Amino acid sequence: MSAFGRLVRSLGQVVPAFRRHYQLIDALIAERDALAQQVALQRTSGMPIGDFRVPSPAPLTRPEQGVVDAFHHLYYSSWQQGQPTIDVSWFGWRTLKCPLDLWIYQELIVADRPDVIIECGTRYGGSAAYLASLFDLLGEGRVISIDIDTDPALNRPQHPRVTYVAGSSIAPEVVEPIKAEVAGKRVMVILDSDHSEAHVLAELRVWNSVVPIGGWLIVEDTNVNGHPTHPGHGPGPMEAVERFLSEQPAFVADPACERFRMTLNPRGYLRRIAA
Ligand SMILES: C[S@@+](CC[C@H](N)C(=O)[O-])C[C@H]1O[C@@H](n2cnc3c(N)ncnc32)[C@H](O)[C@@H]1O
Repeated sequence: MSAFGRLVRSLGQVVPAFRRHYQLIDALIAERDALAQQVALQRTSGMPIGDFRVPSPAPLTRPEQGVVDAFHHLYYSSWQQGQPTIDVSWFGWRTLKCPLDLWIYQELIVADRPDVIIECGTRYGGSAAYLASLFDLLGEGRVISIDIDTDPALNRPQHPRVTYVAGSSIAPEVVEPIKAEVAGKRVMVILDSDHSEAHVLAELRVWNSVVPIGGWLIVEDTNVNGHPTHPGHGPGPMEAVERFLSEQPAFVADPACERFRMTLNPRGYLRRIAA
């Protein structure tokens, strides 16, 4: 490293503007390493992998944002009656995700090539099945999906790449064995369980340490409590994300993951850019 680089890095310990600068340098180094890892892994995978890079979206004008919010309300309009407007399935397994977000997941997984995805909140298992199918295409990877509800009537899909864990996503007896199991692996985390602010913040604090530099920590359903839907929900995932980002500068929300405009996870695609 040059003398200037060393100076910037040491100033970074004390001056916030420089700290940001060297975090970005670290992020670029991590990006380069991840790409090298991707190329190496590609040799063992059946599916050739392209080099598409996600573009950043242009900001919306106020009227355009109004259109997006109106569609968002329309998409969600029957949740208030206890039924989702649009039921979504993957290979016949029900999932509570928006297809536009599932596509973003596919892009992130192909680019990041996690060894393990930890999913907090299984419900019917359709999202776990979807992630496992992507891993099938990539030729490696597994899903650990945690839920407090073990009702057999949920009829979850059985898949060799999916391990279901019963319990709370913040309980030490659930968290600690999983952390030991994934130590040293490239991990992606998806938080989609109890959508109260307190629970999501606890999950963020518990799970962020397993996400490597360049890796992803995804918070689902940040759109509730008026962001822009479900104004009566009460403080939820978005409020937890804002609090977490204010206390943990190693993560940033990536707007490129919101470029399809409609997402259930605004500011919920968090990427680690520093140790
Ligand atoms: C929104 S659903 C998950 C949807 C699923 N990921 C999908 O996309 O199809 C939320 C799930 O979180 C579970 N849950 C609620 N509180 C939890 C907790 N403390 N720990 C783990 N799971 C919890 C619920 O039982 C429910 O099945």
